[in-house]
Amino acid sequence: MDVILYVLLLLSLFECVVSKSPHIVFIVADDLGWNDVGFHNPDIISPNIDYLAKNGMILNNSYVQPVCSPSRSAFLSGFYPFKSGLQNFVIGPAEASCPPLNQTLLPQKLKELGYATHMIGKWHLGMCKWECTPTYRGFDTFYGFYNGKEDYYNYTIANGSDFRDNKAPIRPNEYSTYAYARRVDKIITQQNKSQPMFLYLPFQSVHNPIQVPEVYENMYKNITNEGRRQFSGMVTAMDDAIGNLTDSLKRNGMFEDTLIIFTSDNGGWPIFSGNNYPLRGSKATVYEGGTRASAFVYGLGLQKNNTVFDGMIHAVDWMPTILSAAGGGQVSGIDGLNMWPSISEGVPSSLRSEFIYNLDDSPVPYMGRAAIRMGDYKLIEGFAGKWNGWYPVPDTAEDVTINEPKVDYYQLYNLRDDPNEHNNLHTKEHGMLEKMRERLQEYRKYIVPPLNRKPDPASNPNKYNGYWTPGWC
Ligand SMILES: *[C@@H]1O[C@H](CO)[C@@H](O)[C@H](O)[C@H]1NC(C)=O
Ligand SMILES: *[C@@H]1O[C@H](CO)[C@@H](O)[C@H](O)[C@H]1NC(C)=O
Ligand SMILES: *[C@@H]1O[C@H](CO)[C@@H](O)[C@H](O)[C@H]1NC(C)=O
Ligand SMILES: *[C@@H]1O[C@H](CO)[C@@H](O)[C@H](O)[C@H]1NC(C)=O
Ligand SMILES: *[C@@H]1O[C@H](CO)[C@@H](O)[C@H](O)[C@H]1NC(C)=O
Ligand SMILES: *[C@@H]1O[C@H](CO)[C@@H](O)[C@H](O)[C@H]1NC(C)=O
Ligand SMILES: *[C@@H]1O[C@H](CO)[C@@H](O)[C@H](O)[C@H]1NC(C)=O
Ligand SMILES: *[C@@H]1O[C@H](CO)[C@@H](O)[C@H](O)[C@H]1NC(C)=O
Repeated sequence: MDVILYVLLLLSLFECVVSKSPHIVFIVADDLGWNDVGFHNPDIISPNIDYLAKNGMILNNSYVQPVCSPSRSAFLSGFYPFKSGLQNFVIGPAEASCPPLNQTLLPQKLKELGYATHMIGKWHLGMCKWECTPTYRGFDTFYGFYNGKEDYYNYTIANGSDFRDNKAPIRPNEYSTYAYARRVDKIITQQNKSQPMFLYLPFQSVHNPIQVPEVYENMYKNITNEGRRQFSGMVTAMDDAIGNLTDSLKRNGMFEDTLIIFTSDNGGWPIFSGNNYPLRGSKATVYEGGTRASAFVYGLGLQKNNTVFDGMIHAVDWMPTILSAAGGGQVSGIDGLNMWPSISEGVPSSLRSEFIYNLDDSPVPYMGRAAIRMGDYKLIEGFAGKWNGWYPVPDTAEDVTINEPKVDYYQLYNLRDDPNEHNNLHTKEHGMLEKMRERLQEYRKYIVPPLNRKPDPASNPNKYNGYWTPGWC
């Protein structure tokens, strides 16, 4: 009798735990700028994104790294890229490197909580050996590409094809955004509905090359600049795929039990028609235009909707925050903070009041070198990145004029008063400058050497049937 009661109690506890774990979809858009979503810019057609953002919570101060690999590493590991060797640049396809394999990534942690873990889209966290790849780092399934910047139709980058269904090389016969929508539907339909699902969905969109089916470009006939017209169409194509995702969730009775998180990985790149106006700078810079993400959360667990969350969040926070939303415990030893109590209640907390934009002491900085945030203040030290001006959306056929104003070695901004970084306060507020320099110096102790490497000829896809394939490091 006691045994039966005990079993029943255990079962009900289990039920309770299971029903409390939301399905979680973590969507990352690639190179999507501040001014590239409908909820920031009415000229962009993104009804599905806008609906979720407006019926959820728009994150108005959500920060990421200036480029792809570092942001992705921060999202999944909870570590600042300067502690993972990713402060310098992205991981090139022929580079024999990947972020530290002793870091436990988010999907590994979620599996411990009973989640099914799926990834659809762009990895960009190294692939020189299998141990670096998604299905060895916590994902049950993977459908997408290992590197970055491939062609949307023929799935090649440099001299190799780059696409996998789990470990098997394939080449989908359609625009990648469509292929992802199709796989999303398959994963959701096949999902065991009594098991919580984590779906990491880092779209290829809207990174260059600028490629889009005509039907989407034609939705923007009044945009005279060809690049911007096509780029805007790419956003709308991605938006449709997000509509496909929510349709699949609804059809499978999972929508009400799902938490959706959406963020870009870095700012837009004006040289490839992305746009961050009125924010300053571009992708690859530590200005706000490179690092302040278009982002929102929607769905299960949010106690407020139709709100704007002003609290600061950083890329490193998503790992512990998602884990907490999933019912997991605190993670120690990482840089990320658990923002879930604050986000779920819709009440900004002072927990996150400081973060590092980037910290790179290597001799050749490709992106912004060093910047720190403390409260309303931001200090940039040295090279802030190329493309350091302000770039409005082009309203002619001409390309964006790229200006690079001369800047001082130290740039100090009060972002509350001056969110678009016009007024350098470095001479006026010397005390603040000194305080922030010292703080930056304390973080410097933890810098590890960048893991970027010279291209390794052993990677040559010609040796592997034309596919970028692990096994050469
Ligand atoms: C294009 O037309 C739409 C609908 O009339 C309008 O909302 C939008 O502002 C226009 N965009 C440009 C760049 O003229
Ligand atoms: C978001 O921040 C901007 C400053 O960049 C501010 O102008 C705007 O009012 C904020 N949005 C909301 C809805 O609070
Ligand atoms: C991984 O190993 C390196 C080198 O031994 C060590 O410095 C680092 O702290 C380890 N990281 C984690 C998360 O255990
Ligand atoms: C893929 O398309 C690109 C154009 O975007 C072209 O340069 C490249 O040669 C194509 N590769 C293959 C293998 O078809
Ligand atoms: C995705 O949505 C679009 C627009 O509603 C639709 O045309 C398309 O067929 C859908 N794709 C899939 C794979 O469901
Ligand atoms: C579905 O998941 C539940 C809970 O993890 C498990 O008990 C059950 O066996 C699974 N069903 C199938 C068909 O895998
Ligand atoms: C938003 O909140 C209202 C109550 O404040 C609720 O009726 C509505 O269902 C919520 N919408 C969503 C999409 O959660
Ligand atoms: C292909 O790429 C490899 C780097 O992986 C490079 O060493 C090789 O020269 C390239 N081959 C051609 C034909 O471009």
